[in-house]
Amino acid sequence: MTAPADPAHEAALPEFPMRRACPFSPPDEYGEMRENDPVSRAQLKVNGKPAWLVTRHEHYKKLLGDARVSANLKLPGYPLQVPVPEEMLQAVPLTFLSMDPPDHTVQRRMLAPEFGLRRMRALRERVQEIVDHQIDQLIAKGSEGPVDLVSNLALPVPSLVICELLGVPYEDHARFEEWAWAIMNHDISDEDRGVAHYELDKYVDGLVTAKESEPGDDMISRLIEFNRAEPAVEHSDIVSMARLMLVTGHETTANMIALGTLALLEHPDQLAAVREDPELMPRAVEELLRFFSISDAGTARVALEDIELGDVTIRAGEGILPLNNAANHDETVFPDANTLDLRRESRSHVAFGYGVHQCIGQNLARLELDVVYTTLFRRLPTLRLAAPVEELRFKDDAIVYGLYELPVAW
Ligand code: HEM
Repeated sequence: MTAPADPAHEAALPEFPMRRACPFSPPDEYGEMRENDPVSRAQLKVNGKPAWLVTRHEHYKKLLGDARVSANLKLPGYPLQVPVPEEMLQAVPLTFLSMDPPDHTVQRRMLAPEFGLRRMRALRERVQEIVDHQIDQLIAKGSEGPVDLVSNLALPVPSLVICELLGVPYEDHARFEEWAWAIMNHDISDEDRGVAHYELDKYVDGLVTAKESEPGDDMISRLIEFNRAEPAVEHSDIVSMARLMLVTGHETTANMIALGTLALLEHPDQLAAVREDPELMPRAVEELLRFFSISDAGTARVALEDIELGDVTIRAGEGILPLNNAANHDETVFPDANTLDLRRESRSHVAFGYGVHQCIGQNLARLELDVVYTTLFRRLPTLRLAAPVEELRFKDDAIVYGLYELPVAW
């Protein structure tokens, strides 16, 4: 089977993104596609263009491990998830998330040591202090009634941690959180998104320039230093690396903190299991990452050559969306995949992607999630939801799934 060229056929394609009918499950269409049409065509809501959806775990890994796909969002056919006018698209500097090897490899290698396991282990104590401090504040606020866990814990913790790692003043967090949100939101005007890109870039450029003359003990300063000793990239590349870290480093983990807390509160038997056996927490974190697969629509590629996948041929120049929420609910890999089972061995999940672009911050995210969930349920054993689940607002309109607010009491 090859791509249908008939426009009448294209018009009948299902639209993407598809919404979750239940906040705890992938969109219903995923299971059907995975079973009957695992590499299938859809039409992007954002611009009406077609793209391939990849839904099986095996195909997901095969495709993302294939050097014949590109992550370059400027290439024609790349399935953009947010509407970006062509002019703006060509003008925006690429981050290494959107580069292919060898350019990608150069920047990734400069950053990789910053996220190694040893660095993360050394960071644990500091993350614990940050989490304890935020929970102290949450407790103080909670004496007067329900508190929003998103704005008081889920967002500040990863934001404080990434600021400290990068050497970004946390006082500026409201501004860069807003820009980051505008960049990743479907329902925002082109103009506002353009302004957010511009402002964020200007802000990070200012920071990098300041650190070039007055370095500190932080990631950006080390990148500058490393590049001075062994020149590999330009000033503008360091700006784009820092910008990428700042954007990806807080919103994703924040969403997982809120969703994971909600899932534990809604599955008391599972919560009891981690309470009884705290050693279970690392495994529980993996399962929660698999279960929600929050960055489902965030991975996009374009074929550089014709690629056979399953029983279809993806033609050179066609856009592809490997869906990790579909792959992570593949029953052949995760039996009874729609059930949250914190004892499950779910390390083979692909919530952090796969291949050369696999999440560089995954060990940091795991560390933050482990410390937050463990500390929150230990310090507030009577934690409960302060609103019915049906009234919660889920981020169905963003590239990264999450919760706008999570009212809790204890
Ligand atoms: C629960 C939290 C997180 C999830 C679910 C997540 C998910 C992902 C996924 C799926 C990708 C692959 C994208 C692709 O293949 O196109 C990715 C890449 C990336 N992530 Fe994360 N991420 C998380 C946290 C973080 C954190 C804390 C950072 C901190 C800096 C980070 C930084 C990055 C960067 C820089 C990339 C691009 C890597 C590359 O292109 O080589 N992420 N992430």
